[in-house]
Amino acid sequence: MKTVEVLASSGPYDIRISRGLLPVLGTVLRDLFPPVFRVGIVSNPVVWGLYGSRIREALEGAGFRTVVALHPDGERHKTMESVMGLLGVFIGDCWERRDPLLVAGGGVTGDMGGLAAALLLRGVPLVHLPTTVVAQVDSSIGGKTGVDHPLGKNLIGAFNPPRAILSDPEVLGTLPLRERRAGLGEVLKYALIGDGALLDLLEERVEELASERFDGELWERVVTLCSADKARIVSNDERESGERMLLNFGHTFGHALEGALVFAGRQHGEAVAIGMLSAAAIAESGGIAAPGTFSFIKSLTSRAGLPCAWPEGVTFERIHPYLVRDKKVTGGQVALILPEAPGRVRIVRNYDPNLLSRGLFA
Ligand SMILES: NC(=O)c1ccc[n+]([C@@H]2O[C@H](COP(=O)([O-])OP(=O)(O)OC[C@H]3O[C@@H](n4cnc5c(N)ncnc54)[C@H](O)[C@@H]3O)[C@@H](O)[C@H]2O)c1
Repeated sequence: MKTVEVLASSGPYDIRISRGLLPVLGTVLRDLFPPVFRVGIVSNPVVWGLYGSRIREALEGAGFRTVVALHPDGERHKTMESVMGLLGVFIGDCWERRDPLLVAGGGVTGDMGGLAAALLLRGVPLVHLPTTVVAQVDSSIGGKTGVDHPLGKNLIGAFNPPRAILSDPEVLGTLPLRERRAGLGEVLKYALIGDGALLDLLEERVEELASERFDGELWERVVTLCSADKARIVSNDERESGERMLLNFGHTFGHALEGALVFAGRQHGEAVAIGMLSAAAIAESGGIAAPGTFSFIKSLTSRAGLPCAWPEGVTFERIHPYLVRDKKVTGGQVALILPEAPGRVRIVRNYDPNLLSRGLFA
């Protein structure tokens, strides 16, 4: 088992990464919560259908009673209404403050389960069991939780660091290929913001990661490298006042694309991939990125089986309102995370506003 430590204002916690972690889940939770007899599980019908009986068996084998709350699957259900539904299940079971919530699923489940844990009785312990690439390499780490608002993504939420993250890369094997590839969008992001080892690994083996055949050992390496990167960054900057903003590389245009499509039609990681190309297009045309940066990123994105173009019919006018509601806007100007070269990005605030439309590269 690999262990990566994360520092948070609420105290340090571990990310444990191991193939075959699911069966020992009960023992791990028993060590974390010795006197507790009840665990709440937040999941969705897809994940619960695949892994519910194994999760339940592992927990009940360690003497826990389980209370399960499922939310409907999909980004369009990442709403306060779904969170209220989850809360109702635990309140109905007379929840107590020491009883933890185990949140088993992708980023949507993690964001909503994390918010539910922050709100329930003003805070109950939270443990993440991420089951998608996006969730294992990114969304479960660092304490951001939240839901979408009709006016934009992730606009309502709270910082709520978990007590532990338990990542079993083997579960990525049941993801539909499109989801696994979409997760590669976030993996590419880590490589492009500065993990040299990961960039080398992707340059060598990205086709294997994007292929139908699932290689658990290779994915475990990827999850471990990305987790270590994210852990280091959020440990230095929990509240996103500096270095953590770099993790938004590709997200300004990516979120705007998701917003303009009303969160439909593109997976999050696919939108991030297009967003990274937008950032590269702006950076190269503004003389910020070394020539060739855009085509380098485009080649890696295409080898990962990810989309490399804006969907038909999306205009700058359509995405602009979402760009200006981005969480990184200060003093009315969007802060952009732009590449200087593959493996090097920086935050740019005072750029020529006309450059923004270049993000819609042809
Ligand atoms: N909190 C953060 O810091 C942070 C960071 C990045 C992304 N996010 C959020 O994460 C969300 C995207 O997460 P996602 O890409 O995991 O989407 P998701 O949670 O919708 O999961 C994608 C699909 O995979 C299914 N699934 C999950 N695990 C599975 C498995 N092991 N086998 C088969 N199917 C499985 C889900 O049911 C769903 O249909 C977005 O809402 C985004 O805003 C949050």
